[in-house]
Formats: sequence, structure tokens, C-alpha cells
Amino acid sequence: MAELLRLESVSRRFGGLQALVDVSLSIGAGEVLGLIGPNGAGKTTLVNVITGVHTASSGRVLFEGNEITRLRPYRTARAGLARTFQVVQPFPELSVLDNVRAAALFSSGGSMHEARQVAEEKLAFVGLSERASLPAANLTLAMRKRLELAKALAMHPKLLFLDEVNAGLNSAEVEQAMALIRRIAGSGVTIVLIEHLMKVVLSVSSRVVVLHNGALIADGSPAQVVSNPQVVEAYLGKKYAQRATEAAQ
Ligand SMILES: Nc1ncnc2c1ncn2[C@@H]1O[C@H](COP(=O)(O)OP(=O)(O)OP(=O)(O)O)[C@@H](O)[C@H]1O
Ligand SMILES: [Mg+2]
Repeated sequence: MAELLRLESVSRRFGGLQALVDVSLSIGAGEVLGLIGPNGAGKTTLVNVITGVHTASSGRVLFEGNEITRLRPYRTARAGLARTFQVVQPFPELSVLDNVRAAALFSSGGSMHEARQVAEEKLAFVGLSERASLPAANLTLAMRKRLELAKALAMHPKLLFLDEVNAGLNSAEVEQAMALIRRIAGSGVTIVLIEHLMKVVLSVSSRVVVLHNGALIADGSPAQVVSNPQVVEAYLGKKYAQRATEAAQ
């Protein structure tokens, strides 16, 4: 599998707080990588550092072999990195279509006409075509999450970071979102999935990594990671581990 993204000893400090500590990681093209860990572990910070929202305090980030460590977000977007935001923030008074069109224009710099076509195609993909002309403010949370996905996809990413796209959704909405994530992966986009719902992580990821206090403490198959004692101690809890073991028997 060709390497798509490589982190070499990436650290990030916020004042006295060490949010990322020497994170080294390789992501191959076509992977769906689950990124899990407790609140405050550094998951969103990792995405921010990779996409250029924050810069690494030390270490290097390489995408397709090229160093992107200090590139600003619009440059990483044009290189092929896209992300959804944990707190969804559409332009509320713009239509659903125009929100996606803006994302398409931002990444491609192509014509208005092309951007509209891309936006319509991505809205259809996430099942929001019927809401295209509504102001984004009128959407439910589940629909705003799908709008986030459409915006990210309109940037034609090679690597897509999904930051808690299921948070706050009910179980039927989570099922729909999982199906969508599988379809995105099936279309050839490499995915990093930040997710607290273990059911989703385990059923969608081909590999799972765990952050704890800014450091990577585990990297392996979903089954390896959930039975790793350090991961159970730091994140999953003993009750979860017991249930997982019983379910496996
Ligand atoms: N811009 C910032 N300025 C200062 N501290 C920050 C900033 N962003 C994140 N932090 C801190 O860095 C640490 C990691 O935060 P981060 O948001 O990356 O965690 P997370 O793993 O995404 O957590 P959650 O699961 O709650 O979303 C936290 O202690 C957080 O308070
Ligand atoms: Mg976060």
C-alpha cells in the first residue's frame, strides 16, 4: 500500500500544555483509520496540525512524499486534504447549495458553473438535494453533519478527516452516516475517522490508533487495539473490555 501521509515526531505545545507529543504515524492510501482517545487527548489538534490550522512546534508532516508541515489550510486543501469540523459551522443564511459551492470554489479555483455542478453532485451523494435551496440554518443537526461531508467532498480530497461526524445523532442517523462513510471509502478516499462510538470505529476502520495525553499509545487492527491493556486503562474502561471479550467468545 502506497504511503499517503507521514508524521515524523510531531509535537504541538499551547503555552505550557503539550497537546501532541512526538507523534509518528504513517497512513496508507485506501485506509480507513480510526483515531480514538479520551476527551482532550489531542485528536482534533492532530487534524489541525496536519491541515495547517495550527503549525507543529516540532516534527514534520509529509503528504505524498512532499513536506506540508508549514502550509496554510488553503494550500493543504488544494494538495488534497479535507476535514469536517467537530462543531459544524455552515454559513447559516446562505443556501445549502451555496455552502457547498463555496467549498468547491475555494479548493478548485474553477468556474462558478463547475462549482455548482460539483455542489449538486455532492449534495445528491449525501442525500440533501431536496434541501439545496433552504438556508443552512434550517437543517437539523444530522443534516448539518451531512452538509459538512458534502463541503469536504466538494474539495475532491484524497485524504478526509472526519471529526466526530456522529456526535449528537440518534441511532438511525448513525446507521445512515456509517453507510455514507463506507461509500466514501469505497470511492477511493482515504479516511481518518475520529469517533467516540466504538461500534462505529470497529465496524468501519481497517486500522485503529489511540492518542492519550498527546501521545500515540496503540496502533493495530481493531481487535488488537480493543484488547490492548493500556487502551482499556486509558480509554475504554474495564467494563467495555469485559463485554468485548464476552462478545468474542
Ligand atoms: N487552540 C488551543 N489553545 C490552547 N489549548 C488548546 C487549543 N486547542 C486544543 N487545546 C488543548 O489541547 C488539548 C487537546 O485538545 P483536543 O481538542 O485536540 O482534544 P480531542 O482529543 O479532540 O478531545 P475531544 O474528544 O474532547 O474532542 C486539550 O487540553 C485542549 O484544551
Ligand atoms: Mg476533538
